Amino acid sequence: MIPTPDLDHISSRDYEHVYEPAEDTFLLLDALEKDAEFLRNEIKPCICLEIGSGTGCVSTFLGKILGDGTALLICTDINPYANAITNKTGCHNSIQLEPITTNLVNGLLPRLYHSIDILCFNPPYVVTTSDDLYSSKNIIEKAWAGGIDGREIIDKALPLVNELLSDKGVFYLLLISENKPNEVREIMKNNYNLQSEILFSRLAGREKQLILKFWRNTR
Ligand SMILES: C[S@@+](CC[C@H](N)C(=O)[O-])C[C@H]1O[C@@H](n2cnc3c(N)ncnc32)[C@H](O)[C@@H]1O
Repeated sequence: MIPTPDLDHISSRDYEHVYEPAEDTFLLLDALEKDAEFLRNEIKPCICLEIGSGTGCVSTFLGKILGDGTALLICTDINPYANAITNKTGCHNSIQLEPITTNLVNGLLPRLYHSIDILCFNPPYVVTTSDDLYSSKNIIEKAWAGGIDGREIIDKALPLVNELLSDKGVFYLLLISENKPNEVREIMKNNYNLQSEILFSRLAGREKQLILKFWRNTR
């Protein structure tokens, strides 16, 4: 069993500025742990990318699965505070992470075109109005507010996945049932010929959370 990253260096004050790991975070860790052998032995990644890394808990955990220094672990977040904490979380757990402050993956394409072997995204998925999403100045609200169907940020990320994934690449995406996961799977299949499966689903309070896994047809 791979231990959950140590987050003792993060104070309650920090959590006023960065998303605190919760059930959604831990479901993503469980999915990566379930696939650990596959990721180490079959994917053998060179470059991994997490969009919206928050505290860096997920990428640090991935680094523990792969072994520090095995792959380049790039993280992005729109929140600069999150990137500072992501950096500290990596250091605190002896995993080198490369956090970048940007919107989704702005500035990373086309350089990273078809070069990401493991891609993870626990997006802002909560159903809100578009106004809530775009008018909010609160960085924590931006961490969870997803607009209509909770899909507004997710839908911006989907076309990028196809550009980023390498031939052997895999993409892990956390969704809730309100995000219409079957519709997301259809979009990825019909538009980009990406295969998918539901790797995990779990109830967290009233939320049904799922981890979808996507890969290219060529594998
Ligand atoms: C639900 S939180 C997940 C955080 C962390 N990955 C975890 O699992 O605990 C979503 C994260 O995405 C970030 N985020 C929101 N919109 C973004 C965007 N357009 N580009 C990059 N990051 C974004 C938020 O700042 C937040 O850290």
